[in-house]
Amino acid sequence: MPQPVLTTKRLILRPFRSGDAPVIARLANHPSIAEITATIRYPYPALDTVRFVRCMLTRPEDATRGPFLLTLKSNPCYAVGAAGLHTGKHGYLIGYWVGAAFRRRVYASEAARALAQYGFETLELPVIEISCRTHNHASRRIIERLGGRGPKLRMGWSRMLGQKMPTLYYDVTRGNFLSSNRLRLSR
Ligand SMILES: CC(C)(COP(=O)(O)OP(=O)(O)OC[C@H]1O[C@@H](n2cnc3c(N)ncnc32)[C@H](O)[C@@H]1OP(=O)(O)O)[C@@H](O)C(=O)NCCC(=O)NCCS
Repeated sequence: MPQPVLTTKRLILRPFRSGDAPVIARLANHPSIAEITATIRYPYPALDTVRFVRCMLTRPEDATRGPFLLTLKSNPCYAVGAAGLHTGKHGYLIGYWVGAAFRRRVYASEAARALAQYGFETLELPVIEISCRTHNHASRRIIERLGGRGPKLRMGWSRMLGQKMPTLYYDVTRGNFLSSNRLRLSR
């Protein structure tokens, strides 16, 4: 199954293309993004971006599930961030980031909801895990609105900081997602 293109009210979530490296380099060059990923460092060297995009394009296990570039429906050449539904040690995980200039416009919430909907309705997953640092209030809001339950507190590795950070791990079950999002999905 090829990786799909997902749409929300204002966003198109589409597979990465090799020409996306410059825009990803610009958007992802921020410490808040390096802090939460294993693949992006800060400052983000241009060559790293080319390698990152190439690696994302060739990872066979992610062929159907991401990563996705978040572009605006009103102008599909315009990217605002990235998101993905990945396989992890214990199942499926959702991750997302939005460029600093595009935050607080509810883009991450829209993208996360579209990925969860895809995971539960198309891939028929029973549960999806999402994690965030304890101080990441925006992400905690997004996860709670998806129907995230738990959370379990563990120490998660930050490559940028070179140390473990207190991290909350939530489970979003299909049932919780559907009951928390029924109204929004039907709009
Ligand atoms: C976390 C992140 C993805 C949020 O993106 P965003 O598009 O600004 O989020 P949204 O606009 O959808 O906002 C989500 C909620 O968080 C709140 N919020 C957004 N930024 C906030 C901030 N800096 N402080 C507190 N709350 C914030 C919003 O008001 C909204 O709450 P609501 O649902 O009650 O209205 C973005 O800040 C980011 O990319 N950070 C770095 C990478 C990262 O942390 N990724 C998530 C890893 S788990």
